[in-house]
Amino acid sequence: MKTPLAPTPPMGWNSWNTFSWNINAELIKTTADFFVESGLLDAGYEYIVIDDCWSKKERVNGRLVPDETKFPNGIKEVADYVHSKGLKFGIYSCAGTHTCAGYPGSFEHEFEDAETFASWGVDYLKYDYCYKPKSADGENLYKRMAMALRNCGRDIVFSACNWGSDNVHEWIRETGAQLFRSTGDIQDNFESVKRLAFSQLGKQCYSGPYCHNDMDMLVVGMHGNSDNSWIADVVGGCTDTEYKTHFALWSIMNSPLMIGCDVRKMSDETFKILTNKDVIAINQDIECRAPYCIRQWNNPENVFALVKPLHGGDYAIGMFNFGDKRNEMSLQFFDIGLPAASGRGLEMYDCYEHKTIGTFTERMAINIEPHDCAMFRAKVVKL
Ligand code: GAL
Repeated sequence: MKTPLAPTPPMGWNSWNTFSWNINAELIKTTADFFVESGLLDAGYEYIVIDDCWSKKERVNGRLVPDETKFPNGIKEVADYVHSKGLKFGIYSCAGTHTCAGYPGSFEHEFEDAETFASWGVDYLKYDYCYKPKSADGENLYKRMAMALRNCGRDIVFSACNWGSDNVHEWIRETGAQLFRSTGDIQDNFESVKRLAFSQLGKQCYSGPYCHNDMDMLVVGMHGNSDNSWIADVVGGCTDTEYKTHFALWSIMNSPLMIGCDVRKMSDETFKILTNKDVIAINQDIECRAPYCIRQWNNPENVFALVKPLHGGDYAIGMFNFGDKRNEMSLQFFDIGLPAASGRGLEMYDCYEHKTIGTFTERMAINIEPHDCAMFRAKVVKL
């Protein structure tokens, strides 16, 4: 029996956020090198994914072929290199006739493209939604590529990317995909992070083991550096505090963690955010339970907690301040299922200090800086 793919949200890197069309074999290989040297692989990041713009503008003999100025020795050679580093390799195509950037899509070529990808050693396919013929049913196109991949002779994670349209969360698990983009494209600013996070609160229950809610690639560490001016945004990116909060949100909301910055140039702070093992452990919890949101009447607007039951009895508790000033957040334990009369409290382990900070009863109140967050692993203890 084969083990099923993607029990927990996939982790890796994708070329789009920073490089968009500006990709080549060297970039992919040096990124793979850096994944190993820097410790990103050890932290759990394993997929190196090439996004749009890797192919020629036309098929050759019906097959997709790489642009030889970008990939002079083909895709297989790059995939082999990535594999030789102990990493997995991903690529991109589209359910429509063309990709979003205008390269050939897989519409009505699904089975031969899946075969091509398998022959190159692809382990992950991101599958976009541009140029879908009006008459074609999108749900059916995802079923088609899922079937092609599930029968191509190789394990390939299927990452559907229809930006949350057509109520994708309601039917995507049935297609066989392992993840599904549930949001529009991210931009490197805090407004975008907030918007995407809020858009998914309440829809978390549709995500679970083997089929994850993809809130888009991370912008952590980009600081406005991108060849794609739409993603980079005029404001020049986020602060490190905002990236910390972005990473905490994507982690506790069970999104795949696909890095989007140029990891070869990342700062120590970026590395620290991306490799926080206590936060990653919350994202990779084997049960993939959806978090629920607590907003309390006595807390300021824009302050809320996300609470996620973890395997083994602990709870992840993220506390977020989306407001523009320092705010207090208080969490009444009654609201998460722990009345004082139970004779129990919560022993709080701080995922940023990496230590237990004490046992709290009835409630916990903390001050949170603007756009900052706190993240705890709470253990229920008898008092
Ligand atoms: C968008 C997709 C992006 C990126 C881009 C490539 O539709 O959401 O993540 O893949 O296409 O053209």
